[in-house]
Amino acid sequence: MFRFDDVRLEPGEFRQLREMFNQHCGLTFGPESKSIVERRLRDRLAALGLSSFADYYHYLRFDDQGRHELDEAIDLVTINETYFFRESYQLRALKDEILPAFRAPPQSRERLSVWSAGCSTGEEVYSIAIASRESGLFPGRAVRVFGSDISRRCVAHARRAVYGPSAFRAIPHELRRRYFTDRADGAHVVEDLRSMCQFGHLNLLDVPRSSVVGRVDVIFCRNVLIYFDEASRRRVIDSFYERLLPGGYLLLGHSESLLNLSTAFELVHLKDDLVYRKPLSSTRFWSIAAPPRGPSSPPAGAGSLAPVSPLGNPSAPSPSQAEAVTSPTSLAALTGKLPRIPR
Ligand SMILES: C[S@@+](CC[C@H](N)C(=O)[O-])C[C@H]1O[C@@H](n2cnc3c(N)ncnc32)[C@H](O)[C@@H]1O
Repeated sequence: MFRFDDVRLEPGEFRQLREMFNQHCGLTFGPESKSIVERRLRDRLAALGLSSFADYYHYLRFDDQGRHELDEAIDLVTINETYFFRESYQLRALKDEILPAFRAPPQSRERLSVWSAGCSTGEEVYSIAIASRESGLFPGRAVRVFGSDISRRCVAHARRAVYGPSAFRAIPHELRRRYFTDRADGAHVVEDLRSMCQFGHLNLLDVPRSSVVGRVDVIFCRNVLIYFDEASRRRVIDSFYERLLPGGYLLLGHSESLLNLSTAFELVHLKDDLVYRKPLSSTRFWSIAAPPRGPSSPPAGAGSLAPVSPLGNPSAPSPSQAEAVTSPTSLAALTGKLPRIPR
């Protein structure tokens, strides 16, 4: 008798699937991932009544529902590990150095937008909101945090804002007490904090769609790009540069850097962290493809860079800060104008 548990992912099928996933969202899967992909996708074969991974690949490519199924598959094969105050030295850097820099001249900002790109189930987003509140520099909803992820399941969890014990392994006890309410189904993010945060489904490789995030002051993209191939990383980093306001910061995970990637970012040495910043005077994009030129070469640490514009207009001025704030209208397009999910 046929049993789905017996269906094997053959090497050729694995190659086809991983190429498709890579093209769609930048993720790379080495040979060591084969058994995990096999295990995680086998249930989909059962749900669709397919008897081989070759049939599944065919379904993804050619069926009317293939696009929708690709979302399901990606949801199953992504790594969503996260927790509150992960890499807490970066949240300290945000609170103690980056936010104060925005309050001081020449920026003197009263409102800020932060984008957590690849936010998984939302812990990073709420941690950023907590750090902003704790800084005392931006009261109320002066800081808005937008979280996005390619996993619809993760985005739904983030919106619900209810967490189990493992999410709290690194958050200081006092902050847990202040920003969460314990109920029978888990610890709920307090409404006041939740109202600073919004979530949307977004594939970072879908650069045109990323533009609905608007312009932001800070981007966190931690432990996401490590799973991407280099060309996809470069594409996403270019789009981050475009999304950031001049003077805006990019924070990557502790094992990630912009080395060898196209960028015009300045490297900024903070007390306990190295972060990247879009120069305040920036009007151009830079690519590592061409050699540096004379006095306009970018700062040390940013690589050997030369100007190039992915938008085809290298001399276009940077967006004014007035037009640049993340627009609620465009965010609504991403967040699907959904009412808050009741919990
Ligand atoms: C390991 S988690 C990191 C979560 C959080 N940033 C942190 O550091 O704790 C990586 C997340 O990136 C998301 N991701 C992977 N590829 C993506 C893509 N192309 N677009 C958007 N999100 C993606 C995954 O779904 C996953 O939730």
